[in-house]
Amino acid sequence: MEKPKIVTRFAGLADSRSLDTYLRHDGYQALHKALAMKPAELIELVKASGLRGRGGAGFPTGLKWSFVPKDAPEKYLLCNNDEGEPGTFKDRYILELSPHMLVEGMIISAYAIGAQKAYIYTRCEFYEEIAWMEQAIHEAYRHGYLGANILGSKFSFDLDHYGGAGAYICGEETGLISSLEGKKGQPKLKPPFPALSGYLNKPTVVNNTETLAVIPWIVQHGPEKYRAIGTEKSPGTKLFCISGPVKRPGVYELPLGYPLQKFIEDDAGGLRDGKTLKAVIPGGASAPVLTADEVAKVTLDYESMANAKTMLGSGAVIVIPEGQSMVELLKVTVDFFHHESCGQCTPCREGTGWLSNVMHGIYQRKAKLKDVEKMIAIANNMEGRTICALSDACAMPTRAIATKFGDEIRSYIQRGNHG
Ligand SMILES: Cc1cc2nc3c(=O)[nH]c(=O)nc-3n(C[C@H](O)[C@H](O)[C@H](O)COP(=O)(O)O)c2cc1C
Ligand code: SF4
Repeated sequence: MEKPKIVTRFAGLADSRSLDTYLRHDGYQALHKALAMKPAELIELVKASGLRGRGGAGFPTGLKWSFVPKDAPEKYLLCNNDEGEPGTFKDRYILELSPHMLVEGMIISAYAIGAQKAYIYTRCEFYEEIAWMEQAIHEAYRHGYLGANILGSKFSFDLDHYGGAGAYICGEETGLISSLEGKKGQPKLKPPFPALSGYLNKPTVVNNTETLAVIPWIVQHGPEKYRAIGTEKSPGTKLFCISGPVKRPGVYELPLGYPLQKFIEDDAGGLRDGKTLKAVIPGGASAPVLTADEVAKVTLDYESMANAKTMLGSGAVIVIPEGQSMVELLKVTVDFFHHESCGQCTPCREGTGWLSNVMHGIYQRKAKLKDVEKMIAIANNMEGRTICALSDACAMPTRAIATKFGDEIRSYIQRGNHG
């Protein structure tokens, strides 16, 4: 299976982050092409490519852009570079490789939706990435890619960045918007969706870093070439971050539809130190776990994952070896979501806290066998009834672990040890 390099095409190049290198590899050519098109044509082009948002939900990007009212006088584009999903480290890699890819993608995207101003919302722990991003923004201003009348056109556009304090909930798009407005980073009920009323109550598109970074390639090479990669419903490539005890952990660009087992064994080199595979979390901590048997049957695309009742999410593949206690894994998972819940909705605030209490009881050997069913019942009551998806993001992996590894948890409770 071919592995075309789109987002990682700058990997291994000397001085890959500089404008010079970017220009030597066709950088900003897509912007020239885009500015010669009408914004509506660009939106159609991105729709035709089939690109789906890489922030987690896989929503079609061109369709999202088409919801923005054409005639609104003030519109915004926000890049979601919060990268808070545990196991995910791909967006920062884009900035490490070539921040100009993101800057060019944002200029083209802003032109398509008619935004005059954009922000890159980044967690402020990304010190180096922020410095690289600032450098690229300054270079782009100096060379006329940003600011007034870009490349002599009528299009003027400003780009800045904003450092979030590192709260998981500020990666949720309406939480991100609240945070950027200087308020508490708490999500808001939708509708209205940001495309109609977002930042400062103006039409706003929020897109993930990887989504925006792939735009120049799609514009330059055309939607057909992009569609030729991946599967029919999940076209293109995606960045996958693989972690856990594999021989070669890291970020990989793979065509969607790539077999998960092949990724673990061939690309990441398989498990190290003679370990065997127990399970895999395929799309970050929110994604329901797959058993080793299930891993062999799925491919890395939105449909295959949904059929297996899990999700591709952010593309964070967390490999779990035999010997890893699922009790410990579930405890840290629910603790994370409990800590990150913003507390606005009762099912989330109380549910995550309750799950955390039950899990600590299990971990401390003070639990009853029926506590496993209690966890599933709590999770069932947390889903689909809150402002944002954080509650579901805690409920789904809890139910999957408590169901698929219920015997292990019950045996832990009975034996009172980590076995
Ligand atoms: C609790 C929570 C955390 C999220 N964190 C992120 C994040 O760190 N980065 C991101 O791009 N999307 C995150 N999302 C998804 C965003 O809300 C939004 O769907 C995404 O930025 C849209 O971009 P896309 O269409 O390009 O995927 C999160 C969603 C939820 C519910
Ligand atoms: S679901 Fe949780 S994190 Fe999301 S708004 Fe409600 S309380 Fe906050």
